Amino acid sequence: VAVVEHTFVVSQVNMTHLCKETLVTVVNGQLPGPPIEVTEGDSVAVHIVNESPYNITIHWHGVKQRLNCWSDGVPMITQCPIKPNQNFTYRFNVTGQEGTLWWHAHVPCLRASLHGALIIRPRNGASSYPFPKPHKEIPIIIGEWWEKDLSVVGRNMRDGSLDDDPSASTINGKLGDLFNCSGAPEDGYVLEVEPGKTYMLRVINAALFYEYYLKIAGHKFTVVAADANYVNPYTTDVIAVSPGETVDAILIADAPPGSYYMVAQPVKAPLPDTRTPVYVTRGVVQYNSNRSYGNGTTEQQSSSHGANEGIPFGDAPVVPEMPGMHNTVVSFDFHGNLTSLRHPRRPMVPLRVDEHLFIALGLGMTPCRRGQSCNRRKGDERIIAATMNNVSFHLSSIRTPILEAHYYHTGGRKDDGTLLELPDRPPRTFNFTDPALIPEGDKEALLEPTSKETVARWFRHGATVEVVFQSTALLQGSSNPMHLHGHDMYLLAQGHGNYDAAKDVARYNLVNPPMKNTVHVPNLGWAAVRFVADNPGVWFMHCHYEFHLSMGMAAMFIVEDGPTVGRSLPPPPMDFATCGNYESYLQTKKSE
Ligand code: C2O
Repeated sequence: VAVVEHTFVVSQVNMTHLCKETLVTVVNGQLPGPPIEVTEGDSVAVHIVNESPYNITIHWHGVKQRLNCWSDGVPMITQCPIKPNQNFTYRFNVTGQEGTLWWHAHVPCLRASLHGALIIRPRNGASSYPFPKPHKEIPIIIGEWWEKDLSVVGRNMRDGSLDDDPSASTINGKLGDLFNCSGAPEDGYVLEVEPGKTYMLRVINAALFYEYYLKIAGHKFTVVAADANYVNPYTTDVIAVSPGETVDAILIADAPPGSYYMVAQPVKAPLPDTRTPVYVTRGVVQYNSNRSYGNGTTEQQSSSHGANEGIPFGDAPVVPEMPGMHNTVVSFDFHGNLTSLRHPRRPMVPLRVDEHLFIALGLGMTPCRRGQSCNRRKGDERIIAATMNNVSFHLSSIRTPILEAHYYHTGGRKDDGTLLELPDRPPRTFNFTDPALIPEGDKEALLEPTSKETVARWFRHGATVEVVFQSTALLQGSSNPMHLHGHDMYLLAQGHGNYDAAKDVARYNLVNPPMKNTVHVPNLGWAAVRFVADNPGVWFMHCHYEFHLSMGMAAMFIVEDGPTVGRSLPPPPMDFATCGNYESYLQTKKSE
């Protein structure tokens, strides 16, 4: 077992895209940030040095943090935010997990530029993959380029404004040649391949806003894992990946040598929309046939002459045919086709359910709080909030992180009245997905009054919990990538329209459902999951669309301690800073 150490210096740097210099907050000067590559079972220590002007935390998305909720990285839920000029060290193990995960800042919107891959390789090396060892492994991070100040965008979203848009989409930080600066195309990501070899693409959607379709002209993918869980090999020409999700796919370079566009295109629900975002980004898969060329191969460069076995290189890259921008069926099918590969370490799906939750995802109207810029909204008095069972999550001005209060019994307990219990069903039932409900014109008139609360739900240690997430027409038909910290969920079934237990339970896959940390709830549809609440701590559960999260589509799942030491949360690490003693903590550090 090795200890893998990294130092992440968070600072602001200038980057230029679209002819404009923009100040962005990044780790170690890079966008995407540095990948963390480890072997299953390793210990990881990441030293954060915050040289940015923002309070930040880093979350290790999908890492289970077994008995280690303290390192989960959610501000004021698991830890105090790391203030400007402060340091903090995250320590965790990656045990019992392998595949592609990622890390990102967990403060509003900054994750758009503070993120990177977290790759966990099998202990026995690549030969123990349940598929032939790939020639190379390549992270493909789909993201967005924002020219707007992300902290302002975060504030706007919290205040219910959805008027901010990214300026471009990116693959591994590159915008691609559909974007240009005064006519000169932006650099695109180039993947050089050798004919006949296989490549494992570790695809991560780090975008705030969109689900994406990823396609490579002339090629198919074989999907082998999702959210760091192996799946039965599934061959497809298109990958659908929602914010927060990861997909590992094998690409075989078996097309005639040449160059092929790799395209990432947002998926948008089929609704009238005043925005016309064409945030399609593309890179190039370039066959390397013993021919050398410069960096940043673009169409012009690849059109320089060069031939291999009589196959011309001079043509522009081949363009893939993408699903329509509003086609959500392809995504539904992609997600529905994932089944988990039987794995010796994986437990069977628990058949007895201890607790059922039905969570309706929606929007509501909440009274304007002081300090919010509500004046842009008609009537001035209320703002839009995102809800689960008609309550909207909000951390009131607490001084102690919920986890700490819960651990020391000073708050965060079910009966102490400091938190609101998330209801196990919406306050009333209505036809969640009737398209007639899709707001047009004065959509705000349809929204119900809701309230902002610090919402939690408590689970006995070891309880099997079934959650049905129901998306509603109130959300303008968007899909919802629902993410649970600290646990993987069995995705039992998904469907269109309203969930109906009487017939839908029969469709559950109890044999080999995929295990996911982020579950794609189809637009105007539902998804049913089960998980075993066996990791004590305070775990955030939320929609991974940044605007839904900022507007309150979140709750805390609090898993109680088990009866024995190995099943209860240990005390915080020795050097764990509490908000009150941050200064003294730093002093001790300095005098060491
Ligand atoms: Cu990837 Cu709570 O987030």
